[in-house]
Amino acid sequence: MGGILSGKVVLITGAGGAIGRAVAHAAAAEGASIVVNDLGVPVDGAGAADDSVAGALARQIGPRAIADGGSVADAAAARAMVRRAVDHFGRLDAVINIAGVISLTKVHRIAEAEWRRSIDINLTGAFLVSRAAIDQFIAQGGGGAIVHFTSTAALIGNWGFAHYAAGKMGVVGLSRSIALGLRRHGIRSNCIAPMAWSRMLALVPEDTPERAGRVEQLRQLKPEKVAPLAVGLCADTAADVSGQIFAVRNDEIFIMSQPRPIRGIHNGDGWTPEGVGSTVLPALSGSFTPLEATEGVFTWPPL
Ligand SMILES: NC(=O)c1ccc[n+]([C@@H]2O[C@H](COP(=O)([O-])OP(=O)(O)OC[C@H]3O[C@@H](n4cnc5c(N)ncnc54)[C@H](O)[C@@H]3O)[C@@H](O)[C@H]2O)c1
Repeated sequence: MGGILSGKVVLITGAGGAIGRAVAHAAAAEGASIVVNDLGVPVDGAGAADDSVAGALARQIGPRAIADGGSVADAAAARAMVRRAVDHFGRLDAVINIAGVISLTKVHRIAEAEWRRSIDINLTGAFLVSRAAIDQFIAQGGGGAIVHFTSTAALIGNWGFAHYAAGKMGVVGLSRSIALGLRRHGIRSNCIAPMAWSRMLALVPEDTPERAGRVEQLRQLKPEKVAPLAVGLCADTAADVSGQIFAVRNDEIFIMSQPRPIRGIHNGDGWTPEGVGSTVLPALSGSFTPLEATEGVFTWPPL
């Protein structure tokens, strides 16, 4: 079978969700053999798992897909996902870390368990699956590709769900470190901040006319539109692309900036706290980042 992932084996976590499902179908259409992983949990990750989710998706895709119902937050389960790919298809070429959870709890109301669950799944899960895959990539030789899912709720900002933002910002650091540290092994790592209607975005309240209008826009965002970027980043045509952060919103794809010094001020005698207040902060203030959330930056309707 032809296609840009022809002959490649791809592990997709969270494949039973809105974006994961679209990415799994697109990867299969491009010729990949796939391990479709999903724990089948509620949107916030709390509550019982449904082990039928991954199986149903694998059956829908056909013989080149096999199911895995493990949790990305469990190290043994993460290693088992990779082993399943190798046992079944003989190798592993790419991982797409889509599994994630969210609750829109404001920072001062986040319970410790809720914080830990978010970090466990959104960040540690991405690490554990990447870690297991990297071992396999190095053992088999020839490199490998990892695609992580971050969020503009972390990169730009949100109105308070700090556990989600911290996990998703952590993923950016994880990805960048993999990209730099494993370059010599031909292992690449990139991030996608998707914008797509799913049960996650359905949590956004519609309690004011302004918010209701925004949710109406969010409903137009199609998960299928995220898939070409995720699949394309796994292909050999992206062999030189690593350490980058992309965003996608329907037919728009963006490369996102990464922090670099943008303005500095030097005092050969050193600074005092008073000097910081009287000189440094006013001098740098023209370059401060406005306190805005995603909608303050993506100000135009999706295209
Ligand atoms: N939809 C958006 O606009 C949006 C925006 C920014 C980031 N994201 C990120 O994109 C990814 C996909 O989001 P979605 O909108 O499709 O959400 P979704 O809730 O539809 O899908 C997430 C999937 O992850 C699975 N999952 C959760 N915990 C798991 C675990 N421990 N192990 C294995 N699977 C687990 C869930 O069962 C679910 O099927 C997530 O990482 C999300 O944070 C989505």
